[in-house]
Amino acid sequence: MLVLGCTSQKGGVAKSSLARLLAREFAAKGRRVLLADLDLLQATSLEWARRRVEAGLRPDVPVVGCESVKHALKQARQADVDCLVLDARGFADAQTLKVAWAAEALLIPSGLAVDDLLPAVRLAHELTRAGVPRVQIGMRSAAPATRRARSRRRHATSVRRATTASRLPGRSGPATAGLMTKAALPPRRAIRRCRPRPGPSRPAPWHSLRRGQA
Ligand SMILES: Nc1ncnc2c1ncn2[C@@H]1O[C@H](COP(=O)(O)OP(=O)(O)OP(=O)(O)O)[C@@H](O)[C@H]1O
Ligand SMILES: [Mg+2]
Repeated sequence: MLVLGCTSQKGGVAKSSLARLLAREFAAKGRRVLLADLDLLQATSLEWARRRVEAGLRPDVPVVGCESVKHALKQARQADVDCLVLDARGFADAQTLKVAWAAEALLIPSGLAVDDLLPAVRLAHELTRAGVPRVQIGMRSAAPATRRARSRRRHATSVRRATTASRLPGRSGPATAGLMTKAALPPRRAIRRCRPRPGPSRPAPWHSLRRGQA
């Protein structure tokens, strides 16, 4: 079973949109898929599924609300699905690490602005330091005019590539903070600027991770 996780340290960055897109595309390709909504307060994906059923839309995309990653994995095994997509909550906490460990690939949607990108890159570094083998950041387009159109095309390409199961490495692969596609990246200079600098004076960027608030 392929497990994909959509997470972020920020709210409103398109985690649920990406998770729904992935699940819908898997279902359209005839795969047995389950989308697990881990954000029971907002229940964005659950509501989306309800609206789809009411509107009679195809393909069917089964969505379940889960209070934990363990619960989602259990539901997916019981349903014997090919693919489980995890739609995580709008902040980083201990559950983020559980999503990261369960997933073959962890997708972090991000806006293009440095203010958005910097915490996303920090989160990716924090996760890879915690031993997560594969973290990918997808740029969510936000700029107007031609740049927006270009970014959206890249975003779509990134999603297509990310869904190609054969490209996803096994758990034994080396720890890398890979980015979704080279084409989706801003210039290398911008990424270098976003890299957290090591040093004892720098506060841990992601305090809640080790507090056990799953
Ligand atoms: N590629 C995109 N470009 C621009 N806007 C987008 C894109 N994808 C989604 N959005 C918009 O961003 C908003 C937030 O989307 P979504 O609910 O998927 O985010 P989220 O990260 O799941 O939010 P939350 O943290 O509250 O769960 C929605 O209004 C959605 O339509
Ligand atoms: Mg959401």
